[in-house]
Amino acid sequence: MLARLPKGTNDILPSQIDCWYYLENTIKKVLQNYGYREIRTPAFEHTELFVRGIGETTDIVQKEMFTFQDRKGRSLTLRPEGTAPVVRAYLEHNIGRESPLSKLFYMGSMFRCERPQAGRYRQFNQFGAEAIGSPFPEIDAEIIASALSVCKELGLTDLKLMLNSVGCRECRPQYLKALKDYFKEKKDSLCADCKERYEQNPLRILDCKKEKCRIVIKGCPSIFDYLCQDCANHFNTLTYCLDNVGITYQVNPLLVRGLDYYTKTAFEIISEQLGAQNAVCGGGRYDYLVEELGGKHTPAVGFAAGTERIIETMVKQNIKIPAWDGVKVFVAVTGQEQTVSALSIANKIREKGISVEMDFLAKSLKSQMRTANKLLVPYVLILGPEELKEEKITVKNMENGVQEEISLDDILPYLQKHISGNS
Ligand code: HAM
Repeated sequence: MLARLPKGTNDILPSQIDCWYYLENTIKKVLQNYGYREIRTPAFEHTELFVRGIGETTDIVQKEMFTFQDRKGRSLTLRPEGTAPVVRAYLEHNIGRESPLSKLFYMGSMFRCERPQAGRYRQFNQFGAEAIGSPFPEIDAEIIASALSVCKELGLTDLKLMLNSVGCRECRPQYLKALKDYFKEKKDSLCADCKERYEQNPLRILDCKKEKCRIVIKGCPSIFDYLCQDCANHFNTLTYCLDNVGITYQVNPLLVRGLDYYTKTAFEIISEQLGAQNAVCGGGRYDYLVEELGGKHTPAVGFAAGTERIIETMVKQNIKIPAWDGVKVFVAVTGQEQTVSALSIANKIREKGISVEMDFLAKSLKSQMRTANKLLVPYVLILGPEELKEEKITVKNMENGVQEEISLDDILPYLQKHISGNS
């Protein structure tokens, strides 16, 4: 079993890496254009951070965390998401002191011990952005726009934005009571999980995908009849902003998120091309998380997108990814005695920003030429004892087969001129 991947994990192979580079560069470019600065937090944190941050009754905390003890018996957990760690770092380094609104983005691996299926992994990657410090709905609109801009820049089409409000400390209790009243009579028709959710967190029933529960959920009260004035105003201004910037959305009063920290805005971006796991991005406002983790009241909003799901959508939509344009020069030798000189020449060419390969398997010249052909290099330099003595090198243009001898001093400007287009 030593040569097998653990369940729910993936290797990213050299043949796939261009797509990841392209994605990572696009994410950085777009989010920096929106004024977000990158933050990197550790892959694991104290377990308590997630229990407090995400919520004790959530599936993530109850069933999905990879938790372990360190040698001193302290409980640590591989991060299942990025928001709680970013808020922890925000507080620990007093980032809010620098500016009243902190705009941070991140990319990295997350870990959830879920049942693996298409689009659902145990180690997966997310990129996300968090705007910490503003209570205003305009920043919710900007967060949503930034997530959609990354998708647009990547060439994704046919995405749907689903929007909801989950209320706040003032109005949510009344809505939860209304939900409990509604489901009380119908509890027997719910699945076992929802029966438990009824006791612990009835809002989560709305997210159940089981057919028997969906039937019951259909007639439940709508959150929009329970929002307080502040939450209703917030939602209305947000939709006004989205309308104004031309972002279309579908209001879905049943959209509840799997994490407990949300207040007011909750949203998801879904791709119809994915199967059951169709959310490429999720986010919302979390006005109490900073206080929950020990800070002063600081409203915030953010999103995170699943990188693998974005890539799967790109593949389904046949989006062409700019590929690495490959090795440019192969330095071949006629005998092993020339290898040391080849190493030095190769390094000098690389210093000029040109990619170079050479042979390390003591192959014959013929076999080296075959490798160079396979690599599709435009130029091969051939180094033999005669050439070295005369401080020359043979350059073969692989496109037209023309060979010429060039003095070692002239080789760098020659390659720069022909490959980088510099004279
Ligand atoms: P989330 O909805 O749990 O939200 O995850 C965000 C995205 O991560 C999902 O929409 C999905 O694309 C991807 N994802 C989640 N679980 C998996 C999995 N097991 N396998 C593959 N992809 C997955 C959050 O994590 C929040 N921290 C988002 C947020 C940021 N809210 C405010 N700020």
